[in-house]
Amino acid sequence: MAYEYLIYEAASGIATITLNRPKVMNALSLALLRELLQAATRAEDDPAIRALIVTGAGEKAFAAGADIAAFKEMGAAEALGFLEEVQAVMNRIERLKKPVLAAVNGYALGAGCELALSCDMIYAAETAKFGLPEVNLGIIPGAGGTQRLPRRVGGARAKELIYTGEMIDAQEAYRIGLVNRVFPAPELMAGTRNLAERIARKGAVAIESAKRVITEGADLDLKRALALEAKACALCFGTEDKTEGVSAFLEKREPRFKGK
Ligand code: COA
Repeated sequence: MAYEYLIYEAASGIATITLNRPKVMNALSLALLRELLQAATRAEDDPAIRALIVTGAGEKAFAAGADIAAFKEMGAAEALGFLEEVQAVMNRIERLKKPVLAAVNGYALGAGCELALSCDMIYAAETAKFGLPEVNLGIIPGAGGTQRLPRRVGGARAKELIYTGEMIDAQEAYRIGLVNRVFPAPELMAGTRNLAERIARKGAVAIESAKRVITEGADLDLKRALALEAKACALCFGTEDKTEGVSAFLEKREPRFKGK
């Protein structure tokens, strides 16, 4: 399948999706986001793929936000339809059955930051910059930022970032828990791939179950979330991977998971 605004590569069980509009800092137009949706579904449906990496083309940007050019003529009614479509893409990434790792190679601003927040983990180059600068345009984040940022870093830190619209560098993003790890820029992709490959070696049912329970559990009260966890864990007990994993441990050998 050919894409106009992204590059899709699959190798060794990992799909890498590269946002590819470098002349405009990989700004997330609707056309790009629709392709991202297709590419994510393609990776989810491919049994050979075990994890996804999302990154940006070029050295400057992961994605510097939604395409501001499209905002000029946009009124409230049109904006609502637009934001619902953008949020649907972010929700799909967040709930994809396979882990999604963001490899942030430069600016992750506005919807670019919100896309990273929809991924399971965020890895950053030392040169990366994060921010939700929407207030500078007289608007607020609308692609999940007001909800996913406080859930990741806490309300007060999220409010400071959103109210000031200021950018933070990768180290500060790491310090506040937005970013999982920071790599020297030339090592970002290899470092992120290494983590994706380590996850890919685990049982697929276990990883999918863990992702689903963590994501869905966050919307529930503790009692219901724990019930969800117990049910999902019990289902794992019925898999061939559990038989293999436990046997391998007792036989002091590496497990060979089949994902069933
Ligand atoms: N939408 C559309 N175009 C964008 C864009 C966006 N979100 N972000 C950058 N671009 C374009 C610029 O307009 C410029 O286009 P031009 O070459 O035709 O003038 C090109 O990308 C390069 O950006 P430029 O601003 O010249 O680069 P810079 O290195 O000086 O600054 C940024 C980089 C990311 C700090 C700056 O582009 C920026 O602030 N972008 C907007 C971020 C934002 O507010 N995002 C939230 C959107 S809701």
